[in-house]
Amino acid sequence: MPSQLSPDSMLVYLNGTFLEKRDARIPVDDRGFIFGDGVYEVWRAVNGILFAPERHRVRLEHGVRELEIAPPPELEPDHLWPIADRLLAANDNRQGDATFYVQVTRGAAPRTHFFPPAGTRPTVYATTSRFSPPAAAVRAAGAAALTMPDIRWLRCDLKTIQLLPNVLGKQRAVSGGAIDTIFVRDGIVTEGTHTNVFAVADGVVRTHPLSNLVLAGVTREVVLELASHLRIPVREDPLRIDELRAADEVFLTGTTTDVLGITRLDGAPVGAGAPGRITLALYDALADRLELHPGSPASR
Ligand code: PDD
Repeated sequence: MPSQLSPDSMLVYLNGTFLEKRDARIPVDDRGFIFGDGVYEVWRAVNGILFAPERHRVRLEHGVRELEIAPPPELEPDHLWPIADRLLAANDNRQGDATFYVQVTRGAAPRTHFFPPAGTRPTVYATTSRFSPPAAAVRAAGAAALTMPDIRWLRCDLKTIQLLPNVLGKQRAVSGGAIDTIFVRDGIVTEGTHTNVFAVADGVVRTHPLSNLVLAGVTREVVLELASHLRIPVREDPLRIDELRAADEVFLTGTTTDVLGITRLDGAPVGAGAPGRITLALYDALADRLELHPGSPASR
């Protein structure tokens, strides 16, 4: 079992410096704190190797650009990968499953709704931590999910740190004994609070197309590629909530979720009430892809 340092003594990265988390300080004027004015990214690390690192990095860069935050140098591969490697090593995260988290805000400046003066330095924070993917028993049995209205804004393609609807939705799931809550906008299934949502009907895999209404999940993208390799037909088109309820299989994808079968939706069984054949095949294919070998440059 990999060891875990106490949270306070973990090494973190903040604005050019590596330091213990207990010593990390953010000014109260930070626009992340005041406005939620920032973006973040979460990578999966398996045995110290980041999964699909460039896809996540590009998504973070895209978010920074869309928010018109001056791109900090840390977003360059030559800066970012050494930060990840050092944190993973220092925090004993080179064995087993871990996450690498990076957050960029517009920086600290006296509160004004408009942007701070040019030259205000964005805040860049990075950390790693160990985490446990869904247990094998949960994957085998499938998990429950709930649904709720999608009360988020209209730029859900950006991974901003403004996550209040996601926090409320996830808490609703946890309180109700479910793994996640699925957002529904105008009768259309968008995504989970930290997952993309898929359904299988008549052998066809369905998921919401990329748009401003969903995050372009890296796991979603990889799973679509794997489905294509496995010659499983896919349709990226809006899925109605009644179609989700009537689907043969439902599954969620995400960096911290992998491919997870949903077998109960708002208390009613999905399909046969057990993870379906296509869900399990796509999980197996993703698990093979996650099985990276330490030191392998191919993962980058
Ligand atoms: N969340 N949709 C939302 C709203 C998400 O926040 C996430 C990821 C996903 C899945 O994307 P990916 O496959 O790239 O992880 C979909 C991360 C894990 C989080 O907030 O912790």
